[in-house]
Amino acid sequence: QVFRLEDYRPSDYLIPRTELRFVLSPDSTIVTATLTIRRRDPSERGAPLTLDGDGLVLRRLELDGMPLAQDAYAATPDQLVIHAPPAQAEFTLAIETEVAPSQNTALMGLYRSNGVYCTQCEAEGFRRITYFLDRPDILSVYTVRIEALRQEAPLLLSNGNPTENGDLGGGRHFAVWHDPFPKPSYLFALVAGDLGVVADHFTTMSGRKVSLGIYVEHGKQHLAGYAMDALKRSMTWDERVFGREYDLDVFNIVAVSDFNMGAMENKGLNIFNDKYVLADENTATDADFANIEAIIAHEYFHNWTGNRITCRDWFQLCLKEGLTVFRDHEFSADQRSRPVKRIAEVRTLRAHQFPEDQGPLAHPVRPRRYREINNFYTATVYEKGSEVVRMIRTILGAEDFRKGMDLYFERHDGEAATIEDFLKAFEDAAGKDLGQFALWYHQAGTPNVTVTSSHDAAAAQFTLQIEQSVPPTPSESRKRLMHIPLAFGLVGSDGRDLAYAAADGAAVEDGVIHLRKRRHTVTFSGIDERPAISLNRGFSAPITLSVEQRLEDQLFLARHDGDPFSRWQAFNTVMTDALIAASRHIRDDRAPPFSPAIAELATAVLGDDGLEWAFRALALTPPGEADIAREIGSNIDPDAIFAAREALLRGIAQVNADLFAAAYERLADSGPFSPDAASAGRRSLRNVLLDYRSTLAGGADLAARHFHAASNMTDRAAALTVLAHRHQGTPQALEALTRFEKTFSSDALVMDKWFAIQAAAPGPAAVEAVRGLSAHPAFSFGNPNRLRSLFGTFFSGNQTGFHRADGAGYALFAETILEIEKRNPQVAARLATGLRSWRSLEPKRQELARQALVLIASTPGLSADLSDIVERTLA
Ligand code: ARG
Ligand code: ZN
Repeated sequence: QVFRLEDYRPSDYLIPRTELRFVLSPDSTIVTATLTIRRRDPSERGAPLTLDGDGLVLRRLELDGMPLAQDAYAATPDQLVIHAPPAQAEFTLAIETEVAPSQNTALMGLYRSNGVYCTQCEAEGFRRITYFLDRPDILSVYTVRIEALRQEAPLLLSNGNPTENGDLGGGRHFAVWHDPFPKPSYLFALVAGDLGVVADHFTTMSGRKVSLGIYVEHGKQHLAGYAMDALKRSMTWDERVFGREYDLDVFNIVAVSDFNMGAMENKGLNIFNDKYVLADENTATDADFANIEAIIAHEYFHNWTGNRITCRDWFQLCLKEGLTVFRDHEFSADQRSRPVKRIAEVRTLRAHQFPEDQGPLAHPVRPRRYREINNFYTATVYEKGSEVVRMIRTILGAEDFRKGMDLYFERHDGEAATIEDFLKAFEDAAGKDLGQFALWYHQAGTPNVTVTSSHDAAAAQFTLQIEQSVPPTPSESRKRLMHIPLAFGLVGSDGRDLAYAAADGAAVEDGVIHLRKRRHTVTFSGIDERPAISLNRGFSAPITLSVEQRLEDQLFLARHDGDPFSRWQAFNTVMTDALIAASRHIRDDRAPPFSPAIAELATAVLGDDGLEWAFRALALTPPGEADIAREIGSNIDPDAIFAAREALLRGIAQVNADLFAAAYERLADSGPFSPDAASAGRRSLRNVLLDYRSTLAGGADLAARHFHAASNMTDRAAALTVLAHRHQGTPQALEALTRFEKTFSSDALVMDKWFAIQAAAPGPAAVEAVRGLSAHPAFSFGNPNRLRSLFGTFFSGNQTGFHRADGAGYALFAETILEIEKRNPQVAARLATGLRSWRSLEPKRQELARQALVLIASTPGLSADLSDIVERTLA
């Protein structure tokens, strides 16, 4: 079944009130839903009432307190139809269903994770609990009563505020929760179990005292402190930056170990993958700390962008997700280093969204059709969706952007809104037309902007010839011209931006060229010297750029561009271009030539004490194999790319051997651990230097020393990666892997790192290694984190291993995806995107990859989740 945006129709019925009663038991939980149902249009009669279900067993059904006659309704596992609802405007329906949480391996609806009852309802999991109008525009006030054995579940949580609890005798007890804010069913949540808590409180700007709780497995409370701190910082930040205050008496977060995604913003009761809650220096890396901070903030920010204002339908998913990602990006930028955060965001966007946008799964930020909505929780909806909001701010300016946000909150609080509503708020607040800009929501594909330049010294004029194009994407062959805000600078020989007297040919405001036509000739007057052009500063638009630029200009920008993002970009472009050229040489069995200028640039960046450590680390990190492959675009040979990258690292390390050694020593940790951004930057720079230095003689010993001296997980994991990848099979590598395994065998989240590091180890042996690891006692096919760390890393993060020339990686892919699908179609579908770029491979690998996809696609009885992905991937 295909769902289409243009088919949206408001529901004939509303559900103003929802009362739920849960009698919990692992194999047979009884759910009684008492729904107050109202006709949307009281004069409209006769429409049947059709409620959604998914695998439900109906036990009892009453309308206004009376059992319904057999022929008055039809119940299947997937639907409940009341043929002729009563004539009055409002009536109540009592529905009793039975579900088995312990047998729910799809982890949607009500399930058990490590003995804890928990729920995941977004997008369409509520219908696996009871029959309902399970769509986001049905807003209802919920009252939830939970009953359970006190011993099994001393803790009983749901949305909103706690109102009542007590004993039921026979070892049973109950609790009642009431959420005064009308909400869609996807925000419903329930947690029941035996958990430990970290408790704190927060006083909002208007003086409301909020109890905060983070619930974790007993004995893990000491790992939740960082998350709690991040939560309080998020609450303060949203008040200060967006004027948004929390609105209930309690805010609870529960960490569970079996979770399909990162986390979920259920009203007042966020449920998290424990990977994004639990951390200390011994078990979590700096990247983990940063993720925890960002995701805690993200889910908290959803309280306004998602919950108070929700989505009319699932086509509007980016309304809450793109906006909330933008908000969490800004939060992290304020808490840490803005330039470093921006570079990290762009790297993520390019690594995940660009290949999606440039392959068979491309779709607009606001899709127009879907078969399975779970497959649209994508980098395009989230990350590109955030970039689109960022562009609105660039176009409007910070002040009008804030006015637009305020107007959006004021107009739509308590509503289920659309992208049109969102854009209208900005147009009205700023008095600007965003009509052409709106195409960013509607049109898929990464726009390309081509730029050439010329300087007329006699006339003191500098001219840019700019052309935009949007490549065709599935089912969109013709594209319209977009409004692209292109931030720029004309950098003079002293490294400063040149001032120009006038600019002609496009609207140029505050250092931004607004492209609206296919071609613009922009002429700057009063430019005496030929500048180096710095384009798309701060990554002002999510585009690809084709600029004819001399290497010397790029090298100059890498040293002098006043915009830190563009400075990083220039360095990165220099390395990428060199790697592309080198991989061609290697393919032709020639030695790769590298300009000595690259190693000199590395010398200069490392020695520039005006730069943050984290920035220097990012600048020195060569593009990954997948980044290089993406830039090459077609006829990819992963082995040549790998060899080129190793050669570049070694070349830079050789030239800088003494300098890198000295800096490596100087950066060694001193003093107690702190997860703050500056300390993390220091570690990351030192670990980048380790990576370089480990390519030289004695590299394995160096990495082994680093591993054994490590006093935190960041350093330990960095060293283990170097050993397991570059020094595979050496005694040092084997010893470190064994030591790590022994030390952390009982910590599942740390073992995920052990699996992932090995799954990413380059070379042909990885296929068998991954197969072997899947039989390790710490591995489990039932746990999404394990699956992602082993198979997800292998399929998406191991270019030479997964894309082994004989296709063995693809055979493992097909076999594994089909195995996972039996339990958890959503995770299987997500992992299956690992082959989305198969058409970019060289012909032999392409054919082998295609066969694996066809094998999956032709398996009978495939889930909608998986068949949707493989069919689109093959189309
Ligand atoms: N709304 C959640 C978040 O962005 C993601 C939930 C996705 N769940 C799913 N089943 N697709 O924080
Ligand atoms: Zn979200």
